[in-house]
Amino acid sequence: MGLDEIERKILDEMQCPLKDAATNLVFGKGNPGADIVFCGEAPGSKEDLQGIPFVGAAGRELDKLLHTIGLTLDDIYIANILKYRPPNNRDPTEEEITRHTPYLIEQILAIKPKMICTLGNFSTKFVLAGFQVEGMKQIPGISQLHGKKQRIKYKEHEFTVIPLYHPAAMLYKPPLRKVQEDDFLKIGGFLGLKPTSAKTLLDY
Ligand code: URA
Repeated sequence: MGLDEIERKILDEMQCPLKDAATNLVFGKGNPGADIVFCGEAPGSKEDLQGIPFVGAAGRELDKLLHTIGLTLDDIYIANILKYRPPNNRDPTEEEITRHTPYLIEQILAIKPKMICTLGNFSTKFVLAGFQVEGMKQIPGISQLHGKKQRIKYKEHEFTVIPLYHPAAMLYKPPLRKVQEDDFLKIGGFLGLKPTSAKTLLDY
């Protein structure tokens, strides 16, 4: 199934109170043929208004981090665990994750990336639990897993997974900026990319 068809399915068939309350579906953005999929958590208010993931403050941080390893939106695809905004940006519930993630899995299987970079605890735990809610609680937290390459199998597919802090975490915990930059440089290393310049985020 192609991405357009998956998007249509969400619009036509999905039922969820978040959908009823939202302004727009936030489906995904980037290159549908990308080797890397970044998986975020849930849309915020800006994303809800525009119907596009990562267009607010966290998105700006993500863009800068991608820039440090020479990647742009042309090289990656970005989607979220939740397709509609939770009220007041609260954490996703298990029920919402269960309802929304079948579409995320379809997106990933349509794109067939080599690498999935999970942003924050929820997407890391969901992906490393084998794309399921059951087992998420057994997965260690992002502070233990960030930057450590993992390998997962899902049906006949295999993916490299790189857990990363959510870019919003750097906004409220500035010391994470350096940790996050180092993790992105590792992604660059795993992909055989050279940093574009010696520029760090602190130079912006
Ligand atoms: N945070 C996310 O996880 N996703 C978005 O789309 C925006 C902020």
